[in-house]
Amino acid sequence: MKIAVIGTGNVGSALGSSFSRAGHQVTFAARDAEKTRSVASGAGGRAATATEAAAGADVVVLAVPYAAIEAVAADIVPVIAGKVVVDATNPLKPDYSGLATAGGASGAERLAALLPGARVVKAFNTVFATNQANPSSQGTTLDALFATDDDAAATAVAELAGSIGFRPVRVGPLAAAQELEGLAWLNIRLQMLNNGAWNTAYVLVAPPETAVVRTPVAA
Ligand SMILES: NC(=O)c1ccc[n+]([C@@H]2O[C@H](COP(=O)([O-])OP(=O)(O)OC[C@H]3O[C@@H](n4cnc5c(N)ncnc54)[C@H](OP(=O)(O)O)[C@@H]3O)[C@@H](O)[C@H]2O)c1
Repeated sequence: MKIAVIGTGNVGSALGSSFSRAGHQVTFAARDAEKTRSVASGAGGRAATATEAAAGADVVVLAVPYAAIEAVAADIVPVIAGKVVVDATNPLKPDYSGLATAGGASGAERLAALLPGARVVKAFNTVFATNQANPSSQGTTLDALFATDDDAAATAVAELAGSIGFRPVRVGPLAAAQELEGLAWLNIRLQMLNNGAWNTAYVLVAPPETAVVRTPVAA
């Protein structure tokens, strides 16, 4: 697949490198052009602006702070119709005291409203960056829990997640992003309260077979 990864920090680097290793064509974008070139070169991908990267991609992955989604959406909205957009962000308050979206729509639904025509999928937000680079822990394959209203996008994201070693599990419609963002916050707070190693991860025991999206791996 042709993948645009917007964000070259912990998440963008980890996911982008994994996609590249799995044989996908990855284009990275962020504001710092020099760092973007360096991350792209280290991951065997290309560097571009967010608009160029999204224009050339089948799947666009957002790995930026929640506060940046409006700016990124403005960059990519002219080229986004019909494309799969993976929202890996977590809408944390700047002081990490909770979710900025509490009591309202999820971050992913807000992103979807900013990107008319895009096929938005909430995915990878419940997995810490270290596990995104290697989705296995204690001998167990980790789950890529994802939520979307779009069946074609679900298939694409399941292929993508499967190709980098996750078990893809569709947990519900895009509205279920609310719970995925809550799960991520639960895990983040657990680590903060315990000064942890940031390696806890979610695996569902016996998820319904119909929710586990098994697709041939396509690069
Ligand atoms: N860290 C984790 O383990 C983890 C796990 C799951 C989900 N998440 C979520 O994933 C997102 C990214 O987390 P992170 O830890 O990777 O953050 P990070 O290391 O701070 O990286 C953020 C990236 O976003 C880019 N960025 C910021 N504003 C931008 C803009 N307007 N346009 C384009 N790029 C922009 C930054 O690059 P420039 O400054 O060069 O623009 C940087 O590369 C957050 O929403 C976070 O909550 C994090």
